[in-house]
Amino acid sequence: MAAILSGRRMRRNRRTDWSRRMVRETRLGIDDLIWPLFVVDGEKLAQPVASMPGVERLSVDLAVRAAERAATLGIPALALFPYTDPDLRDEGATEALNPDNLICRAVRAIKAEVPEIGLITDVALDPYTSHGHDGLMNGDEIVNDATVAYLVAQALIHAEAGADVIAPSDMMDGRIGAIRRGLDGAGFHAVQIMAYSAKYASAFYGPFRDAVGTNKTLRGDKRTYQMDPANSEEAIREAALDLDEGADMIMVKPGMPYLDILQRLKSTFGVPTFAYQVSGEYAMIRAAALNGWIDGERAMIESLVAFKRAGADGVLTYFAPLVAERLKAEG
Ligand code: PBG
Repeated sequence: MAAILSGRRMRRNRRTDWSRRMVRETRLGIDDLIWPLFVVDGEKLAQPVASMPGVERLSVDLAVRAAERAATLGIPALALFPYTDPDLRDEGATEALNPDNLICRAVRAIKAEVPEIGLITDVALDPYTSHGHDGLMNGDEIVNDATVAYLVAQALIHAEAGADVIAPSDMMDGRIGAIRRGLDGAGFHAVQIMAYSAKYASAFYGPFRDAVGTNKTLRGDKRTYQMDPANSEEAIREAALDLDEGADMIMVKPGMPYLDILQRLKSTFGVPTFAYQVSGEYAMIRAAALNGWIDGERAMIESLVAFKRAGADGVLTYFAPLVAERLKAEG
């Protein structure tokens, strides 16, 4: 038996730290991290999000400080999400098109003080609608084409405020092409589009909806526009359309339960492909760690390495500043 095994001992390479490092295939770096940040109206406000321990909604002044911290750590980009005052939400998402809304003010303030960090803004109507849907409603229906026209206008005010990357998370058909044409028509040729191409109707978004204040108000669910978790072929078609329409980068969301989708998209298209480790994934790791049931630090790193192994070029993760601090300390 010993003779048969001798040439096939997989454990040899694993024996020492130097050897494990030497044969390691995947590396997680600070450049892989995109930090999603929640902003709220006010001053010097840091409101904890109960279902996301360690995550806070920040007023614009503190978001600027967070951006400075991120830039110092070397995090390439932030993804901004607004908590809109409930009084400003309506059926028609009026506030989404206010060029002086919270997100535009946050973009301008961060760009003025931390110009070296990339800013990704969320294009979708849910933080602005009283019903919590990503599009406009007609009765029970989320209307596609009228929403797309609206999203183009939303993308334009973000670009005017200084956003570097427009990230439509709404899942309306045809929005990438329409936004690209809108941006180009207004002279924003350099503004990039990161398409939420394969965005699933997921239970893992719950804590995010707490953070942006849509959990209590959401009417029904999002299954008529977000993808069915059972589907994989459809993700290929979604990504193909988005790329054809002009997406510069694509994304899979949620992350951990959808690594197969991530791997398929990366190997099929070979374009910059991102994963979103969503709020519920963050909450699960955090909650288990706080209970002492798992080692939270190790689970955090392991989960992010797994995204890289599956083919991600980067990950939107609420762990971004923690991971970056750790990676920086390790040199
Ligand atoms: C909505 C949006 C959602 C997330 C990002 N943009 C939630 C949803 O679709 O209801 C979720 C992100 C997360 O859970 O961390 N446009």
